[in-house]
Amino acid sequence: MKFFIDTADISAIIKANEMGLVDGVTTNPSLIKKAGRDHEQTIREISSIVSGPISVETLSETAEGMLKEADQYITWGSNIVIKVVMTPEGMKAVRALSSRGIKTNVTLIFSPLQALIAAKSGATYVSPFIGRLDDISQPGMELITQIRQIFDNYDLPTEILAASVRNPVHMLDSALTGADVATVPPETLFQIFKHPLTESGIQKFLEDAKAWA
Ligand code: G3P
Repeated sequence: MKFFIDTADISAIIKANEMGLVDGVTTNPSLIKKAGRDHEQTIREISSIVSGPISVETLSETAEGMLKEADQYITWGSNIVIKVVMTPEGMKAVRALSSRGIKTNVTLIFSPLQALIAAKSGATYVSPFIGRLDDISQPGMELITQIRQIFDNYDLPTEILAASVRNPVHMLDSALTGADVATVPPETLFQIFKHPLTESGIQKFLEDAKAWA
């Protein structure tokens, strides 16, 4: 499973990248707002740090508007993926972008059939939101399982990008379920290093080394 980092925070991206945890980056309008910097400048900077795919979200409600935004975004780096919301206009845009060989990520996926529509439109990635389903008492991981089964039934090449990942259990379940990618906030990504037995094991080795080092 590939690890994408779900942030527009440059210092977190640099830190995670140095640890080999960044196969790609996903951003959205809320993450850009949180980073508090200019959109274009932020994406250009991320693109200069990370060679993997970087998802940049369109804001228009029409396919025409999304395509105009996409034309701009693809000039911001050589690895830009156009993120489009799951709407009929969004799917028109995905069709057009895919026919031009431009990679797309369909976001705000909450049902397996929405994922199927996106895959049939030629999406490179679909982003099912696990955490937001859990928030309304619908098991988010079941969505990933169902999409995996449908994509496997028909050999669809679209990659399942587990999104709205909130904790290491979501990451583990995504890997067990066969998600192609999990996009993860930095604080959750760094959490996966931790295990109490690793920490106490390090302490013990350091103490024992004092006897001879
Ligand atoms: O990748 C989508 C993600 O940013 C949404 O996460 O925690 O706002 O549901 P969350």
